[in-house]
Amino acid sequence: MKLFLDTANLDEIREGLRWGVLKGVTTNPSLIGKAEQGFLPLVKEICTIVDGDVSIETSGDEADSLVRQGHDIMQIADNAVVKIALTTEGLSATRRLSDEGIKVNVTLCFSPAQAILAAEAGAYIISPFVGRLDDVATDGLRLLSDICEIYAAQGYATQVLAASLRHPLHVVEAARMGSDIATMPFKVFESLVKHPLTDAGFKKFTDDWEKAKPHLGELPPSMQEA
Ligand code: E4P
Repeated sequence: MKLFLDTANLDEIREGLRWGVLKGVTTNPSLIGKAEQGFLPLVKEICTIVDGDVSIETSGDEADSLVRQGHDIMQIADNAVVKIALTTEGLSATRRLSDEGIKVNVTLCFSPAQAILAAEAGAYIISPFVGRLDDVATDGLRLLSDICEIYAAQGYATQVLAASLRHPLHVVEAARMGSDIATMPFKVFESLVKHPLTDAGFKKFTDDWEKAKPHLGELPPSMQEA
């Protein structure tokens, strides 16, 4: 499962890339607004530093306009993916853009029926929103599991991107169910690495090493200075 960051914050993206595990980025109008930077320079920079898919969202709900926006987004960079909301106009635009070979991430998916429509419209990615369903007392992971099962049964090529993830268990369950991608805010990304037993174990090994070092004779230079 590829790990994506759901952010338009360049510092967060650079840090994720430094870890060597970040494979792509998703943005949305709320995240772009929060970044408080010029739209085109910002998304161009994200597409330049990320060696993977970067979803950039369209606005409005009229198929011709969505298709025009899709064409403009594709001019930004080769790794740009056009993000379109799951409406009838959005499906129509998805079909037209997909027929031209343009990659579309169909977003705001809240039901298996919607996910079937997106795949039939030729979507490159479907984005079920797990956390937002949990917020309204509905099982978001169940939606994800239903979509993974249906897509496997039908042999759809559309990738399942688990979106709106709120904590590490969402990510683990998304992987268990066979999601192709999981996108998450930086704080969830960071929480994946943390474990108190790792911290305690690391401290003990460090302390013991420092105590033992004077009695270990010659060490490789890099280990001497560490
Ligand atoms: C996905 O592409 C969306 O940008 C995102 O995951 C929405 O998540 P939220 O519910 O935390 O805003």
